[in-house]
Amino acid sequence: MKHGLLADKVVLVTGAARGIGRAIALCASAEGASLFLTDRDERGVRETSAAIEGAGGRAHALAGDLTAPEFPERLSLEVAEKFHRLDVLVNNAGVEHRGSVAEHTPDAWSRVIAINLTAPFLITRAMLGLLEKSNAGAIVNIASTAVAGFPGQVAYDSSKGGILSMTRSLAMDLARHRIRANAVCPGFIATDMVLQDSELKRLGELTTRALPIRRMGAPEEIAEAVIWLASDRASYVTGQALFVDGGWIRT
Ligand SMILES: NC(=O)c1ccc[n+]([C@@H]2O[C@H](COP(=O)([O-])OP(=O)(O)OC[C@H]3O[C@@H](n4cnc5c(N)ncnc54)[C@H](O)[C@@H]3O)[C@@H](O)[C@H]2O)c1
Repeated sequence: MKHGLLADKVVLVTGAARGIGRAIALCASAEGASLFLTDRDERGVRETSAAIEGAGGRAHALAGDLTAPEFPERLSLEVAEKFHRLDVLVNNAGVEHRGSVAEHTPDAWSRVIAINLTAPFLITRAMLGLLEKSNAGAIVNIASTAVAGFPGQVAYDSSKGGILSMTRSLAMDLARHRIRANAVCPGFIATDMVLQDSELKRLGELTTRALPIRRMGAPEEIAEAVIWLASDRASYVTGQALFVDGGWIRT
């Protein structure tokens, strides 16, 4: 018998090759969960899996693009084969896109919406049968402070606003199946998404300097919030957005 907030739970994390997704996977394992990890970055997702197994945890990795038409079904078949049920689904994978409204081509818009909004819906839909087998299913969607609307990222902000509304709808529809759904809204977090984009990095440094907690967040600080929402400690919490952003957005 394992110990920890997620003892003996089966947790699926998308976008687990690096950044926030990797931190969530490592933290969930440290809290006793068995992990199913996926990402289009095969090497990265295998490294996360190896790190978990090296520390004595249990992890299985499947590489693939979430937006591929057959992928959600394939993922659910593999989770069923490995673990027979799913307790926690973390829809974390996402991409940024910056530019003026005019610079958002139809292709750029569609790509961001496909990865950040449509894929989480289709994966959630594909996982319902497995989540229903859990006594206490939980979905945690990674949204963003961008739900408030920022300049130069209309597709990204729309996708994050969409996933937040989707989370609230899922909470209403799935409660009768003992499945909770919540969102975590990170502020600026020091991951490749921010640090490898010079404009976003500069914006992040400027913005976070003016926050009550005067720094960017660490991926592990997002992971802690996800773990709590996913755990039975949050058994009466559903349909909520938890902002983990250094005091940036106050709702
Ligand atoms: N870093 C931040 O400041 C920040 C702030 C708010 C919200 N977020 C959100 O947190 C989540 C994780 O962000 P991060 O900072 O760790 O980003 P990241 O770019 O470091 O990692 C994202 C991961 O998702 C994977 N991914 C992207 N598209 C995919 C696809 N089509 N199929 C499979 N895998 C795919 C990437 O390979 C990568 O491993 C995202 O949803 C992001 O929008 C991040």
